[in-house]
Amino acid sequence: MSHIHIDVNDLTFSYNKNNQVLSGIDFHVSEDESVGIIGANGAGKSTFLKILVGLELNFGGEVRIEEMPLNKQLLPKIREKIGYVFQDSDSQLFMTTVEEDVAFAPRNYGLPEDEVERRVSAALEQVRISHLRKKSIYQLSGGEKKLVSLATILSMTPDMIFLDEPSAALDPRNRRNLIKILNGFEHVKLITSHDLDFIWDTCKRTVLMAEGRLIYDGPTDDIMRNESLLLENGLELPLSLQQR
Ligand SMILES: Nc1ncnc2c1ncn2[C@@H]1O[C@H](COP(=O)(O)OP(=O)(O)OP(=O)(O)O)[C@@H](O)[C@H]1O
Ligand SMILES: [Mg+2]
Repeated sequence: MSHIHIDVNDLTFSYNKNNQVLSGIDFHVSEDESVGIIGANGAGKSTFLKILVGLELNFGGEVRIEEMPLNKQLLPKIREKIGYVFQDSDSQLFMTTVEEDVAFAPRNYGLPEDEVERRVSAALEQVRISHLRKKSIYQLSGGEKKLVSLATILSMTPDMIFLDEPSAALDPRNRRNLIKILNGFEHVKLITSHDLDFIWDTCKRTVLMAEGRLIYDGPTDDIMRNESLLLENGLELPLSLQQR
């Protein structure tokens, strides 16, 4: 049997008492799977990812990451395994310059300075932003910030990556490069996106969320062609299948 990396059972969550944001979620991810998470605005995609990285611990049900129960005690160990890209880059980047931000995690893990340097250069090269290395974060465009956010997680060589709307701010060439990077990353990936073609290009499996529930979990190939299910849940066919 393959190893289960993410094990979620009957997850429920609300930010405040009156409004349940996630309900009855069962979700299991095994060896090197790449899973797309789609759904209309407000469906609960970002909340779900935030819970899986331990940003909201006040949930009901059970979450295990690589066999470890997600709780306050184990959180530091769990966080080391996950590279998480926020939907909003301004929540992600907090140092003054690009190179400081990309160096932060490896430096924080106490790696020697030459290894930190090697990882920073490699991560910047991978997302093709070596030229931005010395720039101040506040001088970057939205798409550049997204690319720096990606570099900050690649430099920590995580075991799994969770990306919240990674392609939203990217131009077509950077979007294509990101697809290539992700397809070369042979570990667990969870990716939310409204860009269904991006999900199709990077994930064999997709889950559809609506009002905090998982209402489809199966092959990406099937859901992307299921126009009625997509329409019922506030989505549309991927652009690549739409007639002009
Ligand atoms: N910090 C918060 N406090 C209270 N409610 C919140 C908070 N963050 C999100 N919500 C609510 O939780 C619900 C789910 O939000 P979430 O951000 O998870 O949706 P999403 O599927 O990621 O949407 P989008 O496609 O717009 O990014 C929404 O109704 C939202 O208003
Ligand atoms: Mg979101």
